[in-house]
Amino acid sequence: MRFPPARIQPSAEHHWRSLPAAQQPVWPDAAALDHVLRELSSYPGLVTAEDCDRLTSRMAEVARGEAFLLQGGSCAETFADSSADRVGALAALLSDMADVVAEASSLPVVTVARMAGQYAKPRSQQNETRDGVSLPAYRGDAVNGREFTPAARTPDPVRLLESHRSATTALSHLRVVRHGRSDVFVSHEGLLLDYESALTRTDPRGGRRYAASGHMLWIGERTRDLAGAHLAYFADIANPVAVKLGPSATPGMVVSLANRLDPHREPGRLTFIARMGADKVRDVLPALVMAAESSGSPVSWVCDPMHGNTVVSPSGRKTREFSSVMEEVRGFFEVHRALGTHAGGVHAELCADDVTECTGGLQRISDADLARRYETACDPRLNAAQAREFAARLSELARVNGNDRRLETPWRGIPSLLREVP
Ligand code: PEP
Ligand code: CO
Repeated sequence: MRFPPARIQPSAEHHWRSLPAAQQPVWPDAAALDHVLRELSSYPGLVTAEDCDRLTSRMAEVARGEAFLLQGGSCAETFADSSADRVGALAALLSDMADVVAEASSLPVVTVARMAGQYAKPRSQQNETRDGVSLPAYRGDAVNGREFTPAARTPDPVRLLESHRSATTALSHLRVVRHGRSDVFVSHEGLLLDYESALTRTDPRGGRRYAASGHMLWIGERTRDLAGAHLAYFADIANPVAVKLGPSATPGMVVSLANRLDPHREPGRLTFIARMGADKVRDVLPALVMAAESSGSPVSWVCDPMHGNTVVSPSGRKTREFSSVMEEVRGFFEVHRALGTHAGGVHAELCADDVTECTGGLQRISDADLARRYETACDPRLNAAQAREFAARLSELARVNGNDRRLETPWRGIPSLLREVP
């Protein structure tokens, strides 16, 4: 069932607008933004409430250890990525990876692309400086252009309308390529609250509100402030949602996030995406998993082995070494095995091209190779060969995990875990 046009919900709208919203663009023309948001509110939702609910059910299987999540795509999706070729190539790669993991783990794989909406990026620096010239940082195609010119880098709200159009295009190509195959859901970071709000729709079946911009949205590491606008917006929508957790996350924060985002303890509603770094995951993750267990929220745990392992190479490029990526996944599985909880899935930045952005893997991509095809609009991605290798290695870990599941390892209770995990 299609969503009817947006109805203004003053209370929820007011709520997040009254709170600090991190990482929002500084739009130079408030009237132009207002005009665009009004327009966007009249556009059709990109996904249906039924499909969002279907993903919630699938994520409930992930939380119970009865399915495995494979989430992946570019760090920053560009408008050019919505072409039939590019959508088809990423969908085919994810589908092949899912087959490998499903076969090894004997678990169904839930495939969620970072696609049809991953157009906005949080940045650690407001500005980028090159040769003494400082311009606003690139914040994703939804906000400004990559080209290093004042015109391209000035935030332009018309890009929010182009985001809707590109997402519509990507989704229609995705429907064609997945025809007859299993579902591919779409996800993105719910960063730009003006965009998300303008695309929030009320489900005609039951009155619940949904972000109609994608099936699953996540809150990034830089915007998970409990008192911030992102939490308030996410608490108000009924989609399955995720939160990235970096090494500074605390057990108390995990419990607060579970209480805010999953007050009804709804299976499939909440996923935590741990992005700790290969050297920290074994130390930091156990207490967070235990905290989630103690909260009573039936969360899923997913490993993002990319964002905690970003380094600057000797030649000065942002990269990730394949062995560090795999090491974080290994640590993630080990933690869950030790705790008797489920390693629910992975979240990776990857693409179907033969790019050279991450070092290592069977192709032995070196620092010197990075210059050859370094094309990412933001963070370095696994190329197609590295992504396949990732799936193969993952399937070895998931096979062990699957055996564990068949042993039906019972949840042994927090006190015994506290003794076992220092
Ligand atoms: C991302 O997923 O591209 C990202 C910015 O991640 P994080 O919020 O975990 O840093
Ligand atoms: Co990224």
